[in-house]
Amino acid sequence: MGQIVAGVLAPHPPHLVYGENPEQNEPKSECGWENLRWAYERLRKSLSELDYDTLIVHSPHWRTQIGTHFLGVEEFKSLSVDPIFPNLFRYHYDLKVDVPLAESICKNAAHEGMLTKMMKNPDFRVDYGTIVSCHMTNPLWDKKIVGISSNGASKYFSMDVLQEEMKQLGRATKKAIEESDKKVVLLASHSLSHRHFTTESELPEDMSKEHIEHHGQYIWDMKMIDLMKAGDSRALIDFLPDFTEQTNAETDAGGLSWMMEAMGMPTSPATVHGYGTVIGTGNAVVEWRS
Ligand SMILES: [Fe+2]
Repeated sequence: MGQIVAGVLAPHPPHLVYGENPEQNEPKSECGWENLRWAYERLRKSLSELDYDTLIVHSPHWRTQIGTHFLGVEEFKSLSVDPIFPNLFRYHYDLKVDVPLAESICKNAAHEGMLTKMMKNPDFRVDYGTIVSCHMTNPLWDKKIVGISSNGASKYFSMDVLQEEMKQLGRATKKAIEESDKKVVLLASHSLSHRHFTTESELPEDMSKEHIEHHGQYIWDMKMIDLMKAGDSRALIDFLPDFTEQTNAETDAGGLSWMMEAMGMPTSPATVHGYGTVIGTGNAVVEWRS
């Protein structure tokens, strides 16, 4: 029987890949955002203790206006350019998809009553949220991935509607994994507080310019992290509608809600590998073990 071996809050600012200088990324940096890059180093060390086959990533930047979609082609290879930061992220990706597992989650989600679709266009350009979270978690790209889109339920309706949908998606994900023979790591690809600067410093990696956008955002981030460290995922999810409204957070896409549901609302303390800001947004790399 397959199982979820870990779940990770895996933020995706393109700045982190820019700071790492992998060969896939065209722009090169001197340094930058070490708090978060070293947090990802600690995550990778921790995950290296685990035997797993597949990364399943839920991304706010693959936004499907109707329903929830799943990457459905065995290989995607192209150039991903960040729409806001083309000066930082022009990344040549070549990724492999666990199509049978994606199809099974898609089928189980439809059975839960969700509107679902497999993305079968081989020329589809994979979003940078998916790519950055996967790269920072596994830069070798030697694991297959399942990519899940996010929809606009929180905007069209409300966070409460979104949270209900993410319960369905979480249950479907868990069931599909258990029906498979795969060991899986889940990635919720998003930041915490998401109010950000509107101008970029001349040298993007000038860390003398980097700080939280607003102290109130920092207080919210610390509140959420305290709940993670306390293992109180139920309260964490219950706070999300208020947190999302107050901090403009990417939790409005549902990644964290989906992951906590799939993991059965963990009660054991999460490991916070690190926290840092990127153009004023709050980001934490956090790991839950099953
Ligand atoms: Fe984002």
